[in-house]
Amino acid sequence: MTTETLTNSPSAIPAKTAETSAPIHPTLAERWSPRSFEAAQPIDEAKLTAALEAARWAPSAANSQPARFIVARRGSDAFATIAASLMGFNAVWAGSASVFVVGVAEVADADGKPRRWAEYDLGQALAHLSVQAHHDGLHVHQMGGFDVDAIRTGFSLPESLVPVTITALGTAASPDALPDDTLRTRELAPRTRLPLADLLLTNE
Ligand SMILES: Cc1cc2nc3c(=O)[nH]c(=O)nc-3n(C[C@H](O)[C@H](O)[C@H](O)COP(=O)(O)O)c2cc1C
Repeated sequence: MTTETLTNSPSAIPAKTAETSAPIHPTLAERWSPRSFEAAQPIDEAKLTAALEAARWAPSAANSQPARFIVARRGSDAFATIAASLMGFNAVWAGSASVFVVGVAEVADADGKPRRWAEYDLGQALAHLSVQAHHDGLHVHQMGGFDVDAIRTGFSLPESLVPVTITALGTAASPDALPDDTLRTRELAPRTRLPLADLLLTNE
């Protein structure tokens, strides 16, 4: 599904399809991170489950599966706890998401042995979640700007469970719904990336 074909405010939601030097999967090209979400929209539970299943089936180092998730639907106490942890602009826009998913890395196993790739594996799981959700017509916006200690305390997490990101999921809305001019400008700005050649340290 392209952003143009979403049923709510279709013409108002920007299309931000990536420009690539070779074709990539449409879901990857069309995924982007909005800040404007339909605040009244409850999450489609089947799509949420599918996104979490995609995360569950992501690869991980030695199949150690260190990714854990705190899932909080809008209106729940957990959602309010997570919303209160958001910092800066995140606190302004993210409360209209339908769901927050806190990405938590289990950084040590049951014997206390460090899991070196835990955060890498968590990121990969959330990448899979993002792609599945976008494929299913949801939008996703990951955030690093939050108070880690507030999440630790609010959800009684032990040292071995490290909150790394908060991901907002929901249905994208018109940029007009954003409460701030700066946010509206950012919502309409084109997506940019470094040239591919800049990423290739070696390409023999
Ligand atoms: C680990 C991580 C942390 C991020 N933190 C924030 C954040 O705190 N606030 C925010 O608005 N966006 C945040 N983002 C979103 C990025 O800014 C966004 O993915 C990037 O600008 C590329 O835009 P695109 O996803 O639309 O392609 C974060 C993304 C990642 C992966």
